[in-house]
Amino acid sequence: MSPDGGSARADFKVGLLGFGTVGSAFSELLEERAGEIARFNGRRPVVCGVLTRSRGSFEEILSQADLLVELIGGIEPAKGYLLSAMRAGKDVVSANKQLLSQHGEELFETAREHGVRLRFEAAVAGAVPVVRVLEESLAATPIERIHGIVNGTTNYILTEMTLGSTYAEALAEAQRSGYAEADPSDDVSGRDAAAKMAILARLAFGTPVHLDDVRYEGIDHLHGDDLQYARELGLGLKLVGTAERRQGGLSVHVHPTFLYAGHPLSSVSGAFNAVTVESATITEITLSGPGAGGLQTASAVLGDVVSVMTGGARPPAPPLPLRLVEDVESAYYLHLDVVDRPGVLASVMQVLGEQEVSIRSVVQRGLGENARLVMVTHPVLESSLRIAVEKLSGFDFVRSPPRTIRVIEEEFL
Ligand SMILES: NC(=O)c1ccc[n+]([C@@H]2O[C@H](COP(=O)([O-])OP(=O)(O)OC[C@H]3O[C@@H](n4cnc5c(N)ncnc54)[C@H](OP(=O)(O)O)[C@@H]3O)[C@@H](O)[C@H]2O)c1
Repeated sequence: MSPDGGSARADFKVGLLGFGTVGSAFSELLEERAGEIARFNGRRPVVCGVLTRSRGSFEEILSQADLLVELIGGIEPAKGYLLSAMRAGKDVVSANKQLLSQHGEELFETAREHGVRLRFEAAVAGAVPVVRVLEESLAATPIERIHGIVNGTTNYILTEMTLGSTYAEALAEAQRSGYAEADPSDDVSGRDAAAKMAILARLAFGTPVHLDDVRYEGIDHLHGDDLQYARELGLGLKLVGTAERRQGGLSVHVHPTFLYAGHPLSSVSGAFNAVTVESATITEITLSGPGAGGLQTASAVLGDVVSVMTGGARPPAPPLPLRLVEDVESAYYLHLDVVDRPGVLASVMQVLGEQEVSIRSVVQRGLGENARLVMVTHPVLESSLRIAVEKLSGFDFVRSPPRTIRVIEEEFL
């Protein structure tokens, strides 16, 4: 008998694969919250075994556990463990964005086939509950577009650059403060954000999106003076992932992007993450919060465990076919260093006009014998802008390669 006189229900056994930053925080949080979870759920979650490279046996943990939590990261052996667990009829929780963005369909298919739950809230935007909102709260909403700041490291670096640091200074500060790894290449190249956008796109639009389908560009080539000019044009810079319906298909990409102050992502600073979901039915919803950190991520993982315990989650839906579209329209920031002589501006405008690039705003600066032309265009197909930029690069009066950065024009005021 339990202390309240009712019959005690068996503990809910959680097998824990991985005991690093997130795994150890998860184990601690589980112990701390187990009583409260048992109070409303009737079963007390306990860790029944831990696997690392130096301790534990996967087979033993699998045979005992009601559910497996995978916090190893990478592709193998994490993938093999998750597949084996699901084939054995066990529900699973993972925070592994690399795995889900590259082998998601195989994992989803296995979960469906065996009627088990596969939860992965912590794989995108850490503690921000965007996965559950897309899967459950917005399940009946026809989503048009998602924009996400889904990498805290790059958002931290760009925030520092906006305050005047160079890229190298901002990266060094991010590493000192623990926001960037010793090898930050996955973050600063945009690859980490691309993996998360592939997962979000699959959830929001139901179509399989592999990491290789996502075009991405990082922040390591950005110039501080682009940020200064952009400020004069009322713009702030973020690394934004976009997944949107375009031309009857789906476009998914990650780029450094300028935003006007009225966009909900423009005020997201430091290592925070945020995702906006747009649909005619709901206008726009923004979710934001800490995107990483052991405890924050562990709290999202534990939320998934509780959701499985309470029967709230269902197996993933089968995929829908949707064509992936690459060449989409966007407004652009265009930065040109030119020789300051008569006729230059007219030639630039002619080339832009030929490609139907029209200009929303311009800042012009004289720099002795040279001049700097910085403009924001109205939306234009990326392929047309590339042709215009290539032609401009060929002029002898253009002093250095033109620089372009996407601009999101929408504001929600
Ligand atoms: N850290 C974050 O803030 C964060 C945020 C969101 C999502 N995530 C995701 O959470 C997952 C875990 O990240 P983390 O930062 O906790 O990683 P971590 O600190 O590197 O920990 C990884 C754990 O996995 C174990 N492991 C590695 N290879 C193994 C193998 N072959 N067999 C068994 N165990 C193995 C390691 O064991 P040893 O101790 O023996 O090396 C370690 O305990 C990743 O998918 C990551 O992308 C992390």
